[in-house]
Parts: sequence; structure tokens; C-alpha cells
Amino acid sequence: MSSEKLNTTLVSAGRDKRYCQGSVNSVIQRASSIVFDSVEQKKAATAKRGEGELFYGRRGTLTHFSFQDAMTELEGGAGCVLYPCGAAAIANTILSFVKTGDNVLMTGGAYEPTQAFCDDILASLGVSTTYYDPMLGEGIGELVSPSTSVVFLESPNSITMEVPDIPAIVRAVRAKNPNAVIIMDNTWAAGVLFKALDHDIDISVQAGTKYIIGHSDAMIGTAVANARTWETLRERSYLMGQMVDADTAYMASRGLRTLGVRLKQHHENSVAIAEWLKARPEVARVNHPAVEGSIGHEHFVRDFSGACGLFSFILKDKLSAEKVANFLDNFTHFSMAYSWGGYESLILANQPEELNAIRPAGPVDFEGTLVRLHIGLEDVEDLIADLDAGFARLAQ
Ligand SMILES: Cc1ncc(COP(=O)(O)O)c(C=O)c1O
Repeated sequence: MSSEKLNTTLVSAGRDKRYCQGSVNSVIQRASSIVFDSVEQKKAATAKRGEGELFYGRRGTLTHFSFQDAMTELEGGAGCVLYPCGAAAIANTILSFVKTGDNVLMTGGAYEPTQAFCDDILASLGVSTTYYDPMLGEGIGELVSPSTSVVFLESPNSITMEVPDIPAIVRAVRAKNPNAVIIMDNTWAAGVLFKALDHDIDISVQAGTKYIIGHSDAMIGTAVANARTWETLRERSYLMGQMVDADTAYMASRGLRTLGVRLKQHHENSVAIAEWLKARPEVARVNHPAVEGSIGHEHFVRDFSGACGLFSFILKDKLSAEKVANFLDNFTHFSMAYSWGGYESLILANQPEELNAIRPAGPVDFEGTLVRLHIGLEDVEDLIADLDAGFARLAQ
């Protein structure tokens, strides 16, 4: 990682002359076949096919190399593998480091499809999964064994947003089994608000679909690996056919240039709304890592440089299905969608029993309905007025 500050690196990273060829942005080089001028050139390209030399489309083109270099610099790794979406990045990073008989330690706060991948595909390969309470800190040491090949982290926890003590977890894993590969789903921090590799995590995985793309119109996954895991991840992902098209890689590079300013505004807007919600009589708890009173807030303050727009809050009441529908169906600025990380605001609700079904390490500690918000780049006053009208609907 260079000594530049984040926004400077976001503007400059990956804009090598070789990739831009006189323009500001990288060229879009669409290719399956790479044509060699001579046997000698083909031989040289083959020898350096994993090191940014044009070889064959599945190894990437100048457009991919530009984005990969940028991600590697931003997250401080040895290299970056690209995948068609975040779920592919998660599945392939885990698959690259397990064999039959191994055990995976998976956070019980993981994004639900990550859990389903373990329970279905890993189980069918004879790889067991142990779910740990993400707030257990150094206590994870007791779960680590010689057969632990992967420890998977995510912070904050999916939907309920508690922030685990990641440095304590990493220390305990390293002390017990230095060979275990530690992988983190670092999507919430967009790979830059929490520097996973600086915290001795081996691989930082991201659904670039969210903040890197930033406009809800494309999907990509990234995995930035440290020196000890890079070659294995790169070669095994290649064998599993992981690549994205040049146009999507270009859109991801383009998204990086404004990532810093967007995140800053998402942070400011989401904290303002979280603080407003905290004062509402209908609200039992606000789960926003950057807001005091949120579980693991002290870890956020210590380890993160900022927040994004995604958080949740818990209502004092458990809403009936009719009330949930009346609440969610009638917003002006909040849409309902499963994704997040774009410029627009989103809203979803979960009942405690729905969350318990995806909490293998233990049930949630509340009984009211949970509302998850993604706060976009709209004016906060308009979003607050919309939420205020939503609370009025609840009182009807
Ligand atoms: C935390 C987290 N990780 C991974 C993913 C998967 O990303 P994708 O939809 O690009 O496969 C998501 C998607 O919502 C997510 O929220």
C-alpha cells in the first residue's frame, strides 16, 4: 500500500499507461483469443500467464489487469482474483483451501447464502462446518483444531450488524493453527473502511456488486489475497473457470474513482438517520456500528475508518403481516430489494423467527420486528419525512 491517502489512491490506482493508452480510464479490451506475433512471444506469455501478461481471455485483459492492480493496491495484497459476483468469490475462495475431512469455522453472523454453501456443497464434499458465535472473541481458540483449514469472518454481522472483535479472533486462530486460512467477507467496509489484510487476515472478499459498482447495475466479486495465499487462490480459481467480462471489470474500475466520496456521504446520511431513529418512541434499538449503543460499537471505533449506508433497527413491537405490508408498501423514497450499496435507499423487514432460522450459533436477543435500511445519497430530510410517515402508518 502506498503512503497516499484513500481518495488519492482511489483516483490513481490501476491507471498505468499500459492500461489507459492515452485516455484517462483503462481501455476496454474484449478478448478470448490473444494473438501472438511469434513462437518466442507465445512462450514468454505462457511463462508469465499469472503475472499480468496477456495470454488468454480467462486470464484477463488490460481492462481486468487495471482493476486488479487497483484492488491489490487499495487492500494491500499480493494480487486480486475477479469473480462474476460476490457469492462466487466466497464459494471459490473457500473451495480453494479445503479438502475432504477438513473443518471450516464459519461465523454464525454470515450472509445466509454463505451458510447455505457450507451446509450444502461443503457438506457434500465431506468438509464439515462449525458455526461460531461471532462475538466470542479469543474464545474461538477452543474451536480451532488441526483439521481447521478455513476460518471465515464477516463484519458487521449480516442484518443484525453487531461488530465482532476481529483482531482477537485472528490472534486466537493464529496461535492455535497457523496453517488455517483466514478469509473475510469485507463487503460492508467496501474493502477500504476495514483493512482486512493489515489485520493479518489472508483474503479479503467483497461483493463489488455493492459499493464498488455503486449504481445497482452490474455484479462482480473480488478477492484480494496476501502473499502466502495468492498463488493458490489465483491458480485454483482459474481452474474453476472464474472470470468476468471486460465491460464489467471496466465498470468496477469506474466505480472506484468515486467510492470515497460516495462512502463518506452514505456514512453521513446513515448516521444522521440512525440518530433520528434512536430518539423515536417506536424503536427499541438501533444497530448501526458507528452509533453508540450498537453492539460492538467499541470494535468499530477501534478498527474501522468509517461506515457505509447499511444498518438496521428493532421495533419495540412485533408487527403483524398486515402492518409490515402497510409499512413497507407505501414509502416514496425507499424501495424493497435484496441488494444494497447503490446510490438509492432501500428497506426490508425481518421477524425474529426468520432471523433465528439463519442464526446457527444461537437466537437473536430481541422480540420486535427488525427493519433493515440502506441509506442512499438522497437528502436526509426527505428520507426522514418518508420514515416519519411510515411510523404514522404503524400507529393507524
Ligand atoms: C455481505 C454480502 N456478501 C456477499 C453477497 C453476495 O454478493 P452477490 O450478490 O454479488 O453474489 C451479498 C449480497 O447481498 C452480501 O450482502
